[in-house]
Amino acid sequence: MSVVNAAILGFGTVGEGVYRTIQSHQEELEAALGKPVKVVAVLVKNEHKSREIETDVLVTTEIEEIFNLPDLHVIFEAIVDKEPSFTYLKQAIAKGCHVITANKEMFCYHGQELLDLAQKQRVGVGYEASVAGGIPIIQTLQQLLNINNVTAIQGILNGTSNFILTEMREQKQSFEAALALAQQKGYAEADPGNDIYGCDAFYKLMILSGLVFGEQPDLKSVKINGITGITLEQIELADQWGLRFKHLASIEKKQERLHASVTPVLVSQSHPLYHVEGVDNAVNVTGDLVGDITLQGPGAGMYPTASAMVEDLVHVLQKPAGEKARNKAASKIIKENGEQDAS
Ligand code: NDP
Ligand code: HSE
Repeated sequence: MSVVNAAILGFGTVGEGVYRTIQSHQEELEAALGKPVKVVAVLVKNEHKSREIETDVLVTTEIEEIFNLPDLHVIFEAIVDKEPSFTYLKQAIAKGCHVITANKEMFCYHGQELLDLAQKQRVGVGYEASVAGGIPIIQTLQQLLNINNVTAIQGILNGTSNFILTEMREQKQSFEAALALAQQKGYAEADPGNDIYGCDAFYKLMILSGLVFGEQPDLKSVKINGITGITLEQIELADQWGLRFKHLASIEKKQERLHASVTPVLVSQSHPLYHVEGVDNAVNVTGDLVGDITLQGPGAGMYPTASAMVEDLVHVLQKPAGEKARNKAASKIIKENGEQDAS
């Protein structure tokens, strides 16, 4: 192929960010890939919204129109809910397209299936943007997986919740005003209930679990608490004692069993995540060789998320076919079945 043809599903905060980044970073993409990247189509829900998209790009509400395009190489997916996202990505993989998704809800439940399908089709799956926004946590864990045994992960995985808690503490904003600001900035989910009741952080934690441990705990057994019960008065009182509320997602493997929780916790200054403020996320990973490492950075927003997705594009296109769908579970299953591990 002399040009990489891409379609973007969704043109909200994330989809538009990917579109603009591909335009603004064409030179870097061409240097990395040896060829230009062209967005040829965009899928939306509401065809009447006005959008800044060049006239030669197909803008459609019909996925079939996109799949009927000749020479489509990559699908970026940035829509909402498990469906129709999962169906669209399965179809895209069956057509031989690489897929790159930001949709953590869909990937939490169907990620492994997509990885398995992609391995058979010898295409790549990028899902860096589904966990912790712009932080390259998936890439980092994939590097560590080779020899380290990761025993625990703890993180602030929802930018909106951390932003709200920070605004309430620093600006004495009400919960509602802080949430409205997070929505205005494009941090919150289309349904912000996912952020403030803890589901979004749970989806991300389960994706990390699949990657690192090759399995997820029984999803229904994980206790999920959000930040809605925390009041301004509690935040002020904690502050006077040198404590901060942090919404922590944690998973640990003990005696072959996974223990996970998603809940707000009061932490003191000595906690590695105490100083993680605003929309930032941070992930602390414990490996048996490396010890503890913490990655921190923007956990939501247009360009940090686009950064993760467009970096994924380079990764999926640069890896030789067969290495693209690998995670611990997928490679384990293949080895157990006695098939050749393509990677
Ligand atoms: P938005 O609500 O801003 O945008 C969603 C886009 O998807 C809109 O363009 C909408 O179309 C389109 N869309 C929704 N449903 C359908 C459908 N069934 N068919 C076609 N198009 C559809 O969401 P975000 O951009 O914020 O988030 C997109 C995805 O990325 C979500 O899965 C989210 O969890 C994830 N994500 C978001 C981050 C963020 O910082 N916002 C960060 C990381 C991941 P229309 O414009 O016509 O309404
Ligand atoms: N709503 C999500 C958050 C977006 O605030 O973290 C990033 O996944």
